[in-house]
Amino acid sequence: MKRIAGTWCLSLVLMFVFQAQQPVQPVSANERAEALLAKMTLEEKVGQMAQVTLDVITKGESEYVSDEPLQIDMARVKKALIDYKIGSVLNTANNRARSTEKWHEIISQIQEVATKETRLKIPVIYGIDAIHGATYTAGATFFPQQIAQAATWNRALVKHGAEICAYETRASAIPWSFSPVLDLGRDPRFPRLWETFGEDVYLTSELGKQMVEGYEGKSGDVKNPQHVASTLKHFLGYQVPQSGKDRTPAFIPEIELRERHLPAFKAAIDAGAHSIMINSGLINGIPVHADQNILTKLLKEELGFKGVVVTDWKDIENLHDRDKVATTQKEAVKLAINAGIDMSMIPYNFRFCDYLIELVKEGEVPMSRIDDAVRRILTLKFDLGLFEKPVTNFKDYPEFGSKAFEQSAYQAASEAITLLKNNNNLLPFRKTARILVTGPNANTMRALNGGWSYSWQGEKADEFGEKYNTILEALQLKGGKQNITFIQGVAYNNGGKYWEEKDVDIDAAVKAAASVDYIVACVGENSYTEKPGDLHDLTLSANQLALVKALNKTGKPVILVLNEGRPRLISAIEKDVQAVVHLYLPGNLGGDAAADVLYGNVNPSGKLPYTYPMYANTLVTYDHKLSEEQNKMQGVYDYESDFAIQYPFGFGLSYTSFTYSDLQVSKASFTPDEKITVSVTVKNTGSREGKEVVQLFVSDLYASVTPDVKRLRGFEKITLKPGESQKVTFTLGARDIAFVGKDLHWIVEKGEYEVNIGTLKSKFSLTEAKTFREGAPQL
Ligand code: BGC
Repeated sequence: MKRIAGTWCLSLVLMFVFQAQQPVQPVSANERAEALLAKMTLEEKVGQMAQVTLDVITKGESEYVSDEPLQIDMARVKKALIDYKIGSVLNTANNRARSTEKWHEIISQIQEVATKETRLKIPVIYGIDAIHGATYTAGATFFPQQIAQAATWNRALVKHGAEICAYETRASAIPWSFSPVLDLGRDPRFPRLWETFGEDVYLTSELGKQMVEGYEGKSGDVKNPQHVASTLKHFLGYQVPQSGKDRTPAFIPEIELRERHLPAFKAAIDAGAHSIMINSGLINGIPVHADQNILTKLLKEELGFKGVVVTDWKDIENLHDRDKVATTQKEAVKLAINAGIDMSMIPYNFRFCDYLIELVKEGEVPMSRIDDAVRRILTLKFDLGLFEKPVTNFKDYPEFGSKAFEQSAYQAASEAITLLKNNNNLLPFRKTARILVTGPNANTMRALNGGWSYSWQGEKADEFGEKYNTILEALQLKGGKQNITFIQGVAYNNGGKYWEEKDVDIDAAVKAAASVDYIVACVGENSYTEKPGDLHDLTLSANQLALVKALNKTGKPVILVLNEGRPRLISAIEKDVQAVVHLYLPGNLGGDAAADVLYGNVNPSGKLPYTYPMYANTLVTYDHKLSEEQNKMQGVYDYESDFAIQYPFGFGLSYTSFTYSDLQVSKASFTPDEKITVSVTVKNTGSREGKEVVQLFVSDLYASVTPDVKRLRGFEKITLKPGESQKVTFTLGARDIAFVGKDLHWIVEKGEYEVNIGTLKSKFSLTEAKTFREGAPQL
């Protein structure tokens, strides 16, 4: 007995020693969230699900307007954080950029209350739309907007831009960004097309993954204070309403939702993205914020999304006020939360909290739903390291606004610029060329940057971006002031609506043309986003068309420089201009990049991420059905028809030339479980070094769902010196060429496929069909 007792004592001691020597197992964010959740009251949980805008907690006459200089109102902060237990704040105040010092001051004060004066000391999560740089931070590095980044077709550039954006956002003490946009930009009328990576599913998926990785770091390491949590938006099918106007009804069949709109979100979720924002509009009559099938069944269950689902601005209130699916505000809260929303971007009041608490007490919203939401929000806060470090300090970010960061933004802008026409190799200019610079976009930082630049609509970019060069200033720097004449011809009315123009003096421009060699007409759009950017007519404005028509008549060669967020129709002037250079919205360094392309310091390598339409009634994407092009089809009808676009998806010229040869497919026929390799040799046959985007398209020739003409299935951007060749190889599996079948599963079918790279074509066949059983279709 003694012996047994002795042995027992010894084992106890040994166990103790052994345990003491064991490294302490780090507790995961999930476990910490779970432990904290267990301590929370209903009121505390609901508060975590609420987000208000900064104006609500600053000094000022109301929750809509703040006093300047901006100051936090401690009484309002306490009301929000202590009385209502609010867990999140977004946006800037008075719609205006602030310095990193100011951000530090504001966010420190908020976190001070959250982490010291609330019962559970849970830090606030601050979020902002840092979409092409730290949007609301003065001195931040502004990259080209997403559409221009897509035109680079350069994965590494997109990733690096996101890394810099994350760093500078954290330098502003903000750990959460409402970016990237993974909506497809398939409708050129939509006012947010420029916030997308363009019309293609694959390009968007590939670049979306890069952006998420750039923001969050590899494997989603958002605890690193140089990274931010990303937000995929706007789930799902946001940019394709019937009218082309923001937040109007869309009708999207499920086969289309799954085939085109879902893959980029799925890829980014699989890449570890931490949050997602919901489509503010309706699909098939149902507001997405109230659609349990999309938010819970599809997103949380089928895709297995574990992050935070946040509403868009005021969108729970919109279920009642705008969309009329809820008879009261309280019912709107019930619908949205039960559908699967985790956090409400309220953003101006606290009613959401009162209603949700009542709804839970009344049994209308189950506690399990609240716990699911709060668990996700707390996990995000733990993942971000906010409990350890609620505020990052600008002093720890010495690279903020550095020359090196500017150089990266410049690089992205110069690789985005797309040369669409260059008759007789008119471009590049010689240094001594005498040039008339004209047009409303010639001398403005606002139009170069677009929306979400220092303010929501981008109207403050001339003030905050003053140190950067407009197109005119950059041309003057590179070509010498003595060689550049500037007559604006048409100017935007910056105090008015984004489309308003003023000071139209076309005659002066025509007169000035007499004494120059070339005319650079900088046309396009002023900055805008969302609803204020809705459009009545896709055609370029009448004044700008009149300006270019008058200049075309002078006989001097006109170079059209397009600086616009969506492809405005230019068919009335395009045939008479000698060159077309597309800038998109290239950001603060876009003026320099444009001048370098025009003078030949940069060889353009951008390619269109969308189809540039020619006519208002032919707004088709490249991946359309063959029946759009009945004029080209043999034996269909014997009468006339036409199909015309201005420039195709993927198109862009260079100052050098590339030839493609030796297209090879590894085998003539494959089973769906084998891999296919497709290779091609590309040669620079011109006299300058250049970058080329090698694009692999595949056409399924016959399928049970009418196949698209072709689909992009791979791309690589390569650099070749004059005379240099490179073999580019793509590897495809059957899943990479699959489509969504009638039963809503991804499938491939037996039959022939055509491969197309450049002008070369080849074929292969699949020997059998296969269904990929992913998820559980049927929404
Ligand atoms: C936009 C979102 C944005 C949010 C917060 C909304 O109006 O639709 O894209 O993230 O505001 O600023």
